[in-house]
Amino acid sequence: MSVNWQPVQYDSLPLPHEKWGARVVAGFEFSGSEILVDAGCGTGRDAQLALSRLPEGNIIGLDASPSMRVAFQQRFSGDGQVSVLAANLDEPWPVTDGSVDAVMSVAAFHWIPDHSRVWSHAATALKPGGVIRVDAGGAGNLTRLLAAVDEVGATPLLPSWHYAGVDETLGHLRAAGLEPVTVELRQTPTQFDDDLVYADYLRSIVLHRLTEIQRMQVASIMADRVVDYVRLEVEAVKPSD
Ligand SMILES: C[S@@+](CC[C@H](N)C(=O)[O-])C[C@H]1O[C@@H](n2cnc3c(N)ncnc32)[C@H](O)[C@@H]1O
Repeated sequence: MSVNWQPVQYDSLPLPHEKWGARVVAGFEFSGSEILVDAGCGTGRDAQLALSRLPEGNIIGLDASPSMRVAFQQRFSGDGQVSVLAANLDEPWPVTDGSVDAVMSVAAFHWIPDHSRVWSHAATALKPGGVIRVDAGGAGNLTRLLAAVDEVGATPLLPSWHYAGVDETLGHLRAAGLEPVTVELRQTPTQFDDDLVYADYLRSIVLHRLTEIQRMQVASIMADRVVDYVRLEVEAVKPSD
């Protein structure tokens, strides 16, 4: 079963994802004419930020969700620099081998249960010398939230995910022929100030599959409104020939 992404709700909430995306984009040293792939592009918020740094570049969004792709298309409607393609990141990517200068991905790789292929698909897409920067849920992500879900007797909250650690990711990067620059886990606990926003956030982003009563129980166990995110932050380079 896959997540039923709700683009309008997704863009209306004050998500920590926005900060994660800004960090990923800020780390690129663009000249302004690069071809960038946004893997798991969602509604295109991060692509929009990246576009402001690519006046002569191009962005190709890849996403498996039709509703997210429609939202992406609407955001960039009429902009010839940006396109979006249907893609499962776990399968070969629909871009020409060795054709892209950079790959970014924000809050998407952890939805792929087995990470053994996705890094090589990215490496295949990159030109020699190309850079990949990724943010994803990492080892230890949402441990407290998952324990609260367990405590209320609910089934696992999301269909499938994998929060990878540093050693595992280093192994995948090397197997894909990518040179690691940074592979780190970062604790990013996120506090919600407002009860209503917190409830809406739990409902639409992380606790899709719980009943309303179970969600209220989880919210009362986590009454400090702190969501215990741990991010896996990666930068790697495809070596020049
Ligand atoms: C949490 S959203 C992040 C979207 C965007 N990167 C952002 O930060 O706002 C995760 C996105 O990854 C996409 N996704 C998840 N698994 C995928 C897969 N195997 N292949 C392609 N896209 C995937 C979802 O459809 C969704 O749009």
